Amino acid sequence: MTVLITGGAGFIGSHCCVSFLEAGHDIVVLDNLSNASSLSLERVAAITGRKVSFVVGDIRDQAEVEEVLHRYKCTAVVHFAGLKSVGESTKMPISYYDNNVVGTLRLLSAMDNAGVRQMIFSSSATVYGEPQFLPLTEDHPTSAVNPYGRTKLMIEEMLRDVAASDPNWRFGILRYFNPVGAHDSGLIGENPLGIPNNLMPFITQVADGRREQLAVFGNDYETADGTGVRDYIHVSDLVDGHLRAHEVLAEGAAPSNCFTVNLGTGNGYSVLEMVRAFERASNKEIGFSFSPRREGDVAECYAHTERAEQLLNWKAKRDLDAMCRDTWNWVCKNPAGYAAEAAE
Ligand code: NAD
Ligand code: WQD
Repeated sequence: MTVLITGGAGFIGSHCCVSFLEAGHDIVVLDNLSNASSLSLERVAAITGRKVSFVVGDIRDQAEVEEVLHRYKCTAVVHFAGLKSVGESTKMPISYYDNNVVGTLRLLSAMDNAGVRQMIFSSSATVYGEPQFLPLTEDHPTSAVNPYGRTKLMIEEMLRDVAASDPNWRFGILRYFNPVGAHDSGLIGENPLGIPNNLMPFITQVADGRREQLAVFGNDYETADGTGVRDYIHVSDLVDGHLRAHEVLAEGAAPSNCFTVNLGTGNGYSVLEMVRAFERASNKEIGFSFSPRREGDVAECYAHTERAEQLLNWKAKRDLDAMCRDTWNWVCKNPAGYAAEAAE
C-alpha cells in the first residue's frame, strides 16, 4: 500500500510527503530534480522520523515508472511532477507540453500496465481564465490563456476520458489557488531559482535584502485598493486536502470516479494587504513601487470552497499571518534555500 509521489522533492510535493508519512502511509518519490534538491527529502525524513524512498527519474520514462510501481507495490499516485511557470511556458511551449502532457500520458500508461488506477492530479485555478463570476465554483467555464494553463486543461480532459472509459480508474483533480507558506519547522519551503515570478517569494527577497523593492503590477484594478486580489493558501493546508482526497478515493466514497475540487481558502487578499501582512510577520519594511499591469493577470480570483468542504470534509485552517510567519521562518533559517547545504 505505497503511494507514488511524482515531483515529491519540490515545494508542494515535499510538504505532501510529510502529510502522508505522518498519516502512516508508505511513500516513494519519483523526481528528476529539474526544479528541486534531494535535500528537501532529507528534511522530510528529519521532520517525520521516517526514511523516504527516492528514485531520481522522469515521468516520461514509462518503463522506469512501471518498474517503480511494481517494485514498491504502489496502489495510488499523487502527481505533482511538471513545469509550472506561466512566463516560461510562453517561451518554451514544447518543454511544457512534453513534461506536463506527454509526461502525464506516459505516467497513465505505466499505471495502466501496472494495474494502479488511482491518481490525484495538481491542477490550477489558472484553468478558469478571466473570472465571469466570483467566487469561482468548479463549474465556472474554463479557458486557458497560456501554454502552461493549456497543459493543465488538456491533462484534466485526458483524465476525465480515462475515467469514463473504465470505472476502475479513480481520479481527484485538485485546482490550487495560490500556495504559499512553509512547514512550521522551517526545514522545508519554497526554493525558487533565479528571480521569482510569484508575489510571496519576491516579497521575502525584498524583506531579506536580496531585492531592492517590489514592483506592484497594477494599481488601477477594480478592487478595494486597486491592486490584484488572490486566494493565498498555506501549503500545509493544501497538502492536507490531498490526504483527504486520497482517503476519499481509496475508500470509494466519492460520488463519481473522477472529481474536480478547488483548494483555496475562499478569501481574497490584495497585493498591498500581502505587503502589510508580511511586514507584520517579518518586522521589515517592504519597499514597493507601482508598475503597469502584468500581461495575462486578472483583477481578482478566489475560490468557492463548498465542494471541498462537502466532498473532502476539508477546510483550510491557517490564516494569512501564519502563511507569512511560516514563510519568513523558512527564509530566515535557509537564506540560500537548500543551496548552502548542497554546496557543503
Ligand atoms: P515544483 O517545481 O517545486 O515541483 C515540481 C517537481 O516536479 C520538481 O521537484 C521537479 O524537479 C519535478 N519534475 C518536473 N518535471 C519532471 C519530470 N518530467 N519528471 C519527474 N519530475 C519532474 O512546483 P510546485 O510548486 O511544488 O508545484 C507542484 C505541482 O503543482 C505542479 O504540477 C504545478 O503545476 C502545480 N501547481 C502549482 C502551483 C503553485 O503556485 N506552486 C499552483 C497550482 C498548481
Ligand atoms: C499574485 C499577485 C500579481 C509578483 C500564478 C500562476 C498560477 C498559479 C499560481 C501555477 C498578482 C501580483 C506578483 C510581483 C506583483 N501557478 N504581483 N508583483 O499570477 O495569481 O498565479 O501562480 O499553477 O497559474 O499564474 O500569482 O504570485 O504571480 O501573483 O504585484 O512581483 O501579485 O500581479 O496580482 P498568480 P503571483
